Amino acid sequence: METLKIALLGGGTVGSAFYTLVQERLEDFHALGVSPRFLGVLVRTPGKARPIPQEILKTEPFDLLEADVVVEALGGVEAPLRLVLPALEAGIPLITANKALLAEAWERLRPFAEEGLIYHEASVMAGTPALSFLETLRGSELLELHGILNGTTLYILQEMEKGRTYAEALQEAQRLGYAEADPTLDVEGTDAAHKLTLLARLLVDPGFPFAGVEARGITGLTLEALKEAEARGERVRLVASLYGEGGRWQARVAPVRLPQDHPLARARGNALWVRTRPLGEVFVTGPGAGGGATASGLLADLFRLLSGASGHLPAPTPKPPLAEGSPFPQVA
Ligand code: NAP
Ligand code: HSE
Repeated sequence: METLKIALLGGGTVGSAFYTLVQERLEDFHALGVSPRFLGVLVRTPGKARPIPQEILKTEPFDLLEADVVVEALGGVEAPLRLVLPALEAGIPLITANKALLAEAWERLRPFAEEGLIYHEASVMAGTPALSFLETLRGSELLELHGILNGTTLYILQEMEKGRTYAEALQEAQRLGYAEADPTLDVEGTDAAHKLTLLARLLVDPGFPFAGVEARGITGLTLEALKEAEARGERVRLVASLYGEGGRWQARVAPVRLPQDHPLARARGNALWVRTRPLGEVFVTGPGAGGGATASGLLADLFRLLSGASGHLPAPTPKPPLAEGSPFPQVA
């Protein structure tokens, strides 16, 4: 049996869950003819409690060129970029959960994505199919897409609807491992904007810029706004939308009012609602954050790679929108 040498960058919420999941799924690796071995797990603090043997933890970058695959769950942009570029240049595939890296360092990463070397199912909606779901929808033309793409803000809004305060709900989302290391990325809408950028590149324009997403978060939302929406038969959610306006694709993240019977309002997890032609309306929902949920997406990509599939390829050419307008009003 061949050894599969994995270099894991990050041993926090996601990295630790990925390490554990690989140990739990050894039989599936063996069935694919490989035996996984971690060359090292890059962390900052060696003494932290985590389910990873001390002897494979590295606090200094190690030689990624020895690896068969690099799995990145560090977070941030510059540090992971510096680490993964030499490996990509050497043709070593990258599996990443890091949407900030992909959204903000696209100019450097795009050539490798176009070669099929970058796998990032876990970067949008964790292990719930988002990229692979949308890849299948490419057989139809996109009319509009709306998604609940951030688990932390969804959790906060759901908890506020049950009477908890914003501060308590955010603290709990952090404890559950949903939030980014810097949670302002979640609550100000930046994380959802990172993810929407990746979806726009997959579907409508391979060069879609992160700066092209207009983003507003939930920090200005009051309990009163949520109660008023409920009284009107609506629900407030932070929705990431891609729709046509003035003959161009608009990408927007904002708190919007959804009718309570809309699939996005009824969703308990992250969700994507897409209108396409000729397929019609399609919807997917599931957990979008948390260690196990994200490790599941990383492992799915590792199995894709082992089965010979390419990474997630961006849209082949830019496409103009076929329909105009977004149906959901922004919360004032
Ligand atoms: P985390 O718990 O903060 O873990 C980050 C890990 O990376 C930690 O082990 C940390 O070391 C290490 N690290 C960070 N910067 C480093 C550096 N410069 N050098 C060495 N080690 C470094 O974060 P996370 O929640 O696992 O998220 C990781 C990535 O997955 C992020 O890109 C995030 O956006 C993405 N993601 C997270 C989720 C989720 O639900 N949490 C879901 C989808 C995607 P120490 O442990 O020593 O601090
Ligand atoms: N902080 C992110 C969220 C993690 O809350 O959705 C998953 O990408």
